[in-house]
Amino acid sequence: MHQKIIEQTITFSKNYHKEDPSGHDSSHVIRVYENACLLLKETQKADHFIVKMSALLHDIDDHKLNTDGLQTQKYLESLRLEPNIIQKILQTIAGVSFSKGFKKNLTLEQKIVSDADKLDAMGAIGVCRAIMFSSIKNRPLFDPDIFPKENLTPDEYNDLTRKENNTINHFFDKLLKLKNLIHTETGKKEALKRHEFLITFLENFFLEQNQTQWLNYLHSYLKEEAKNEKNN
Ligand code: ADP
Ligand code: NI
Repeated sequence: MHQKIIEQTITFSKNYHKEDPSGHDSSHVIRVYENACLLLKETQKADHFIVKMSALLHDIDDHKLNTDGLQTQKYLESLRLEPNIIQKILQTIAGVSFSKGFKKNLTLEQKIVSDADKLDAMGAIGVCRAIMFSSIKNRPLFDPDIFPKENLTPDEYNDLTRKENNTINHFFDKLLKLKNLIHTETGKKEALKRHEFLITFLENFFLEQNQTQWLNYLHSYLKEEAKNEKNN
């Protein structure tokens, strides 16, 4: 019976995000679901149904979509799931958000869905999604004169009108930080590969334009991040 509900939810989610302008097109949701299934192999103890449903529904009420915040719950109620299962799925989804920082005391299910989502913002796919997001929002690709703003508050991070908010700076605002926000062991291994790809991409991007200052900026940024990692 659970398998049938999952299949129904795959269809629901694909449809819901079909024309999503916020970087959560339906292929993102399917990749997050598949990442979560991969991470579940390591963590047999997790509740598989809760993880799969939360992965498929995690962006339904994303703040960028201007929903009333109740669409996930409405959908779950339409399935006639038990109230405690609905609560568990909603609680799992609430643990997945980059802008709210690294959360401690997450449940195993929250850790898996959060890792699965973050992996999809890294690597080759992460590069494509950042470019897609910026072009939809009419943000520039790169401005050699504008370096990223450091220590962003959540409001600054979300402010698309900020002059520093362009595609390349988004790597420094978010993408290069994700590796340190991963919880599961399988997730960490995969994140490391995807992180290396982000660095190679940026190095080539700067080298091709003789942007030595940016190359130096990248390398000192990475050193700082490594220091912070040790201190945490
Ligand atoms: P997620 O579903 O991974 O939580 P977000 O809702 O934060 O993602 O954003 C959707 C996608 O768009 C992600 O791949 C993210 O890296 C990218 N993105 C978000 N904000 C920006 C931005 N200001 N510039 C470029 N890309 C962005
Ligand atoms: Ni997502």
